[in-house]
Amino acid sequence: LSEFRKAIKHKVRFLPDNVEIIVDRGTNLLSAAMAAGVHINASCGGMGVCKTCKIDVVSGNLEKSHRENVPETVLKPEFHQACRTQIYSDLVVTVPVESRLDKAVPAEEKKKTSGVSLSGWKFNPPIKKYYLELPPATGDDNVSDFFRLRRELKKAFDLADVPIDFTVVRKLPETLRKKDWKVTTTIILTSARPSKNNNIPRIINIEPGDTRSRNHALAVDIGTTTICAQLLDLNRGKIVKDSIVFNKQISYGSDVISRINHCQQPGGLEKLQELVVSSLNDIIHNLLGNTDIHIEEINFMMLAGNTTMTQILMGLEPKYLRLAPYTPVADFLPPVKAASLGIAVPDHVYVYTFPSVSSYVGGDIVSGVLSSGMHQKKKITFYMDIGTNGEIVIGNSEWMVTASCSAGPAFEGGGIKFGMVAMNGAIQDFSLTPATLEPRIETIGRERPRGICGSGLINIIAELLEAGVIGQDGKFNSSKSKRIREGLDGNEYVLAWAAETQIGQDIVITEVDIDNLIRAKAAMYAGCHTLSRSVNVDCSEFAQVIIAGNFGNSLNIEKAITIGLLPDIPRDRFTFIGNGSLSGTRLLSFSSGLFDSANKIARMMTNIELSENNDFSSNYIAALFLPHTDEKAFPSINAKLRKN
Ligand code: FES
Repeated sequence: LSEFRKAIKHKVRFLPDNVEIIVDRGTNLLSAAMAAGVHINASCGGMGVCKTCKIDVVSGNLEKSHRENVPETVLKPEFHQACRTQIYSDLVVTVPVESRLDKAVPAEEKKKTSGVSLSGWKFNPPIKKYYLELPPATGDDNVSDFFRLRRELKKAFDLADVPIDFTVVRKLPETLRKKDWKVTTTIILTSARPSKNNNIPRIINIEPGDTRSRNHALAVDIGTTTICAQLLDLNRGKIVKDSIVFNKQISYGSDVISRINHCQQPGGLEKLQELVVSSLNDIIHNLLGNTDIHIEEINFMMLAGNTTMTQILMGLEPKYLRLAPYTPVADFLPPVKAASLGIAVPDHVYVYTFPSVSSYVGGDIVSGVLSSGMHQKKKITFYMDIGTNGEIVIGNSEWMVTASCSAGPAFEGGGIKFGMVAMNGAIQDFSLTPATLEPRIETIGRERPRGICGSGLINIIAELLEAGVIGQDGKFNSSKSKRIREGLDGNEYVLAWAAETQIGQDIVITEVDIDNLIRAKAAMYAGCHTLSRSVNVDCSEFAQVIIAGNFGNSLNIEKAITIGLLPDIPRDRFTFIGNGSLSGTRLLSFSSGLFDSANKIARMMTNIELSENNDFSSNYIAALFLPHTDEKAFPSINAKLRKN
């Protein structure tokens, strides 16, 4: 049968991009879109549960296509789930606005990228350029080109026996002679290995003439949803430019588990590696655009990411990250030539990665902790990065424990009926007019709404709870608002009427959505509680709570405490550091001495596996309430709710 199907081909055209592809009969429509390079939101990675992959069929025969388990009221009659549709005729389909990703990441996400609290670091980049005027070769002095270079490096800079990359040896003869034996040598001063003596110089490039004034680096945070990067001037210690793009892997699911699963398919790892490299190349292109900096002037690349993203970029099998006992390939990865991964930088550039701690506590957390400076402080700090996989760290200058909490995709808008990633049109803020209890909504980019992002969801639920529109069990109180109605998933509350939206449908929040968010916040809070109890610390003892990550940027602390996501402690102890991971990569690009600190932080972190912890299970169940079943844990919120 499969041979028969392969013999018959069908043409599929995707609108509004107007991209066509010819595929075998029976091909899955989501796979066809991916193959055509057309993005369709697919939070669950094609498992059929998130319903974010809606498409509209304009023409074609779908009689034999599957349309499984989806009630008509969830998908409008003309809408289909791409991941549940097989192609049995030529098709023209439209990807509706709610299934698309904006090409541009909203400006709101671009702010607050530097929140460094680290002190005492010295500007001493790991890349140095040395200008040399070599004595020309003569009959009396006809030593090899490499010997001549080394001899001069020793004489002028006391750099003895510096090893050299073979690619540099290859270009020595022409480069030395091009500008009359005047050359600039680029030397990297660190190996990034966890050893006491890690400042081992190495010649990685040689250029004709004096190029010392041009020395740049790239600092990159590879996130599951977005990639953030900075172009750095290594002479001046300055950020030249910032950029952010979506990680193109997002078409293959919004969380790391979907990505790992996709890697198990034939060619899956290669495909996801290719997509992340393509995203990196886009961001490099953006960074260099409208500057006078040429790609040849990039000499260094420092990268941090969660363990899955890092392994996929390196082409390392991620399967064992999600299989007990959850082992990463390596905690310290050796530097790799960036060009060997397909990254469009000169072939002398090495990419260095932050060390990781475990399968789910990666280099991005080590990088963030470094930039937060919590390893320098005696008082106890709580560091958290909220997301699908929420990572938390508790500790000080002497000890650190860490864990990851599988919160599920709700914070990224996944599993929420009208959930979406934080981009233009996402409802981000919400309040109720006291007299009428009518909602006021604010969206990213001030566009008409098309969905709800994670921080919007927290604000909505907190506000509805305070107004009594929902109870502490997350159920609607029908007598409180005319906007509450019976929906397919139980009661729902209309946030915006169809005429007010971009998508031509009422945007609602359902009891199932609320339940999903309660589960997500319960996992984060239970993780925090379990981890702190494991070291006999009470949340009230946190001298500081550091919130990192793009999600944290838009988080309203008071609302997050109201729903029980954050502990009820004095508000002035909370600090946002923005993208701490990116800040850490910048710091290491500016200061080679910090490689030791990064390695030390990674080694001092003790990872606690919550999925096998009984206390975590009971703490999780206790947290499935707004804000918590233990009234004493949230005194200020319970007092406020009683007053209302
Ligand atoms: S339901 Fe189709 S991708 Fe999730």
